[in-house]
Amino acid sequence: MTILVTGGAGFIGGEVVRLAVERGDVVRVLDSLRSDVHSASVALPDGVELVRGDVRDAAVLDGALAGVDVVFHEAAKVGLGVDLQDAPDYAVSNVHGTAELVAAMARAGTGRFVLASSMVVYGEGAYLDGEGRRRRPAARTVADLEDGRFEPRDPETGHPLAPGLVDEDDVLDPRNVYALTKLAQEHLVAAWARATGGRAALLRYHNVYGPRMPRDTPYAGVAAIFRSALARGEAPRVFEDGAQRRDFVHVTDVASANLAAADALGDHPDGTARAYNVGSGVITTVGELAAGLARAMGGPEPVVTGEYRLGDVRHITASSARARSELDWAPRVALADGLAEFAAAGAAR
Ligand code: UD1
Repeated sequence: MTILVTGGAGFIGGEVVRLAVERGDVVRVLDSLRSDVHSASVALPDGVELVRGDVRDAAVLDGALAGVDVVFHEAAKVGLGVDLQDAPDYAVSNVHGTAELVAAMARAGTGRFVLASSMVVYGEGAYLDGEGRRRRPAARTVADLEDGRFEPRDPETGHPLAPGLVDEDDVLDPRNVYALTKLAQEHLVAAWARATGGRAALLRYHNVYGPRMPRDTPYAGVAAIFRSALARGEAPRVFEDGAQRRDFVHVTDVASANLAAADALGDHPDGTARAYNVGSGVITTVGELAAGLARAMGGPEPVVTGEYRLGDVRHITASSARARSELDWAPRVALADGLAEFAAAGAAR
């Protein structure tokens, strides 16, 4: 199989490239090597062709797509962003980039698409009230957050709600600019599939971590931020009360889900796009993550600061049952092992 990985020099794309080469695919990478994300040197495995260019450049795309069977679209601007001044760059990088890509795929006649989407498309996700009924909370108010009331509340009774697991058919409700660009990407890819008869998998990633995770940028994920603090001998700073729930999934498991999805598309009906949550299935609080990393790196105990970021969702936890049953995929890296490796890679730099 000949594949194109956009963002293939990056954290997640690079791991898709590594696994694809290992199993014998012919791999081409399209990457702009943006200086705000990449250091000067980028090492790709032997035999991988690098096309240096922007995913918004139609001529670059036409060249990069020649002879390609499957596109893995991992290039994106990620994270919550610093403030609303980031909105244009998110829209241009993620929405315009994907629009150019699907247009070029239609010209090239490329038939399969695997999209790096995100759990953030669900917004606050699924919650249960005291009687076990499903509820959708409103966005948390500044007043609640200021007063340390972090749990989303029942819009009718005002009582705190308990988090549940979202599945792929749950309501989509993006709550920040990044989230809405991921949802826009999903819709663009679904439109491409309908228009061309192509087949797509929309992979909604949980919080991805791994040794080469981007660090020391305003867009870094919390695991990398904690690791950098510990490497400097500082305590990790845990926002809110530390009880916010996430699912930290290892980058190798995310990459293997990409390849499994591409293979499964062979049996999908033409003209369809199907969503899959991709997580480890293990729920961890941000406080537990901080404590686990501090232990693994022999650093100071975490500090719970009570700070908050507007636009953060409280809990992001989903069921990845569909990916397991339909993609013949299962996560393999246990969190304790993955964090030990992650901590060692951080200490070594
Ligand atoms: C992350 C990803 C996002 C992805 C989503 C999927 C990043 C930057 N964001 O969003 O791209 O789509 O998962 O589930 O990788 N926190 C602290 N201390 C800090 C920084 C953050 O306690 O110094 C807390 C935040 O308040 C938040 C949690 O850690 O509650 C996670 O934050 P973050 O890593 O930025 O990721 P998500 O918002 O979960």
